[in-house]
Amino acid sequence: MNRPVRVALLGCGTVGTEVVRLLEDQAADLAARVGAPVELAGIAVRRPHRHPGVRQELLTTDAAALVAREDVDVVVEVVGGIEPARTLLLQAIKAGKSVVTANKALLAEDGATLAEAADAAGVDLYYEASVAGAIPLLRPLRESLAGDRITRVAGIVNGTTNFILSAMAASGAGYADALAEATRLGYAEADPTADVDGYDAASKAAILATIAFHTRVTAADVHCEGIRRVTAADIAAAEGLGCAIKLLAICERVPGSGGAPESVSARVYPAMIPLAHPLASVDEAFNAVFVEADAAGQLMFYGQGAGGAPTA
Ligand code: HSE
Repeated sequence: MNRPVRVALLGCGTVGTEVVRLLEDQAADLAARVGAPVELAGIAVRRPHRHPGVRQELLTTDAAALVAREDVDVVVEVVGGIEPARTLLLQAIKAGKSVVTANKALLAEDGATLAEAADAAGVDLYYEASVAGAIPLLRPLRESLAGDRITRVAGIVNGTTNFILSAMAASGAGYADALAEATRLGYAEADPTADVDGYDAASKAAILATIAFHTRVTAADVHCEGIRRVTAADIAAAEGLGCAIKLLAICERVPGSGGAPESVSARVYPAMIPLAHPLASVDEAFNAVFVEADAAGQLMFYGQGAGGAPTA
């Protein structure tokens, strides 16, 4: 057995708590697969007294000191937001640590800086959980389909809004009640504005478009419209037309014309989907993503896109 792989965890909320649990519960299997024990070196949090279930000796409020520690090999970031996450991850990368992050907002705003820093330092940067939670999606796009030409990626990538729209359609629940339940279940962001106004899905669309089309798309490039203005009457009207309303993220190649080169379109908006379409039956906090590629044809990825354990 090799020397342990030591992990620093930044953040111990809904997802971080489950990362700790999985590292502990799966310790024996992880050691066997990795060829070395995977150990927690420390956990950076803002308020240690709020984490009574975690081994207290691991907790620290000094995230910068934790990522700089010589005995840390990998930094896992589940804090979210642009700063201080970006600075901490860049510090970690420059210090030779590999980084795993679920931070879609940061990746969608400045993923290129992280990727360039990781390349320069010769370390790994992984972010599978940043889009569609538990669904293995980014690695298939980047690696499994590397020999294909992806033309379109479209789907439901925000669990909170899908939960809200499903609840409104199934029970006639009001928007506010459905949002409160999504928050209670740990799907919604601390500030649900990012979910209901489509920014969370727009960040994910930017990450998907960047990987699928080998280009740089940021959240600011994505047309974004949320679900705040979708009413019970809209949902009933859609049903009358044989449709469901879903918040879709759509990324596609746009053929060039008149001498202009091919471009990429990425957009998020509530769309009417025929009930017979597989995306129409994706309910609750589940995510589903359709990928269309020249050789592979249509692929669909489906699973839990939010929540502590699936994201962990
Ligand atoms: N708030 C996000 C969602 C969490 O509801 O999908 C997962 O990114």
